[in-house]
Amino acid sequence: MTFTSKNPANFSEIVGTVPAACASDIVEALRRAKKAQVEWAKVPAPARGRVIANVGRLVEKNKESLSRLVTREMGKVYREALGEVQEVVDTCDFFLGEGRRLYGQTVPSEMPKKNLFTFRNPVGSVFIITAGNFPAAVPSWYLVPALLAGNSVVWKPSEFTPVVAQALTSLFHAGGIPKDLLITVVAEGEETFKALDLGLKEELINKVGFTGSTEVGRKIGAKTGEYIQSACLELGGKNPMVVMPDANLDLALEGALFAGFGTAGQRCTSLGTLWLHESIYDAFLARYTSLVGDAKVGDPFSDVLYGPMISERYLDNHLRHLEMIKPHHQVSGSSSLGRITKSNPRSGFVGDPDTGFFAHPTIVAGIKSDDELYFTETFGPLVTVGKFKHLDEAIQLSNGHGYGLSSSIYTKDPENVWRFREGISAGMVSINNSTSGAEAHLPFGGNGKSGNGSRQSGIWVLDQFTRWQAMNWDWSNKLQKAQMDTIEIEHNPDFLL
Ligand code: UN1
Repeated sequence: MTFTSKNPANFSEIVGTVPAACASDIVEALRRAKKAQVEWAKVPAPARGRVIANVGRLVEKNKESLSRLVTREMGKVYREALGEVQEVVDTCDFFLGEGRRLYGQTVPSEMPKKNLFTFRNPVGSVFIITAGNFPAAVPSWYLVPALLAGNSVVWKPSEFTPVVAQALTSLFHAGGIPKDLLITVVAEGEETFKALDLGLKEELINKVGFTGSTEVGRKIGAKTGEYIQSACLELGGKNPMVVMPDANLDLALEGALFAGFGTAGQRCTSLGTLWLHESIYDAFLARYTSLVGDAKVGDPFSDVLYGPMISERYLDNHLRHLEMIKPHHQVSGSSSLGRITKSNPRSGFVGDPDTGFFAHPTIVAGIKSDDELYFTETFGPLVTVGKFKHLDEAIQLSNGHGYGLSSSIYTKDPENVWRFREGISAGMVSINNSTSGAEAHLPFGGNGKSGNGSRQSGIWVLDQFTRWQAMNWDWSNKLQKAQMDTIEIEHNPDFLL
């Protein structure tokens, strides 16, 4: 069996065909990777860092061709694809130096002639499962630190972006990563889950990394827990953007346009609900409606706000979410709803809509906290808009659905900033900026339905791919018993001046 990957903007164009792996193929890959890890862990970390440096340089050298492939296979606009590939380079830049750090600590002992130390050990073999919306950058957030820290990786990319996955894997191999240390397998969800179970049972997996839906993340978290392993879960979001009456409204409009509709709303950091203060609600919504109405949609290689949905499945999901619109909602943003076609056109569309999976941008205003759309991550070009009276109410509405990935507030008042930061349950907070577009060296991750508290990126992700080992070294030549043979310094507890 094979997967045929098609360009979602022009599905007569085949981007590539790759073999499909079944559960036993994945388990076999896990066995090979586990073996390869033993030798890799012996390579000094600074030398591993130099391999990561090679990979970064190669990705940079191939930036345009890899970005073109990202746009052709996944459908994001080329400028964003360039940004995504840059994020891979940034991640390599950060971790090449980490090879010369991977710091442990020296810790004082409570006894003389005894020293304490900590070491970061690789966890072993990791199994990474990623989504199609960021086919290169998000995988690199796992692959780069995992390999740098001395682990092996079996990577299951999205079946919608297997060709980008193969290209990225070949760049890692060309940079010096041994073939068996990083193995990429393309498989369907069911086979992947079967392999996860078998691999855990056979002790071939010491860490799981998963980026995808909350529903699947819950199952993966439960499965790994069964085998006393843990997963790094990066799940969905319903990211709020709060606009206060004192905000720079032009800036907020620009931010809401990009956050809501960039990447066709298919980022886990995309804007979910735009919360507008009641005093600016009508005027802001009117301006937002006309801005979205005028935005160009279409061919992702031209100057458009967004291109196609990743695949038909993502388009179908979007269509299902449109059914959640209720009579009390006000809908705007385009001349129509649903799929853009010649018979359901969007004015100013660039290219031929019938050759791809394009969707009309949709604004659903008048959202209430008991609406289905309030609780649902829509992962498409759909932004819900609601009204609030006070900041405390906006914070409550922003948290009330249980997701907690990204968030944003537009205000000029520092007190609003601090109150929002303290009250919001999201792992990431933007001030006067889009909910999307996190930099590659700050902790990335969420809480509640958005993740189990694990963080990717920067130094923080090292806690996912290493385990602390504590060492004590007693050179006193006698058995000093901790907590018992400790030194007591005399003092006078009754002393008063
Ligand atoms: C994702 O959608 O899974 O912060 C990741 C951003 C990007 C990464 C998004 N740098 O929007």
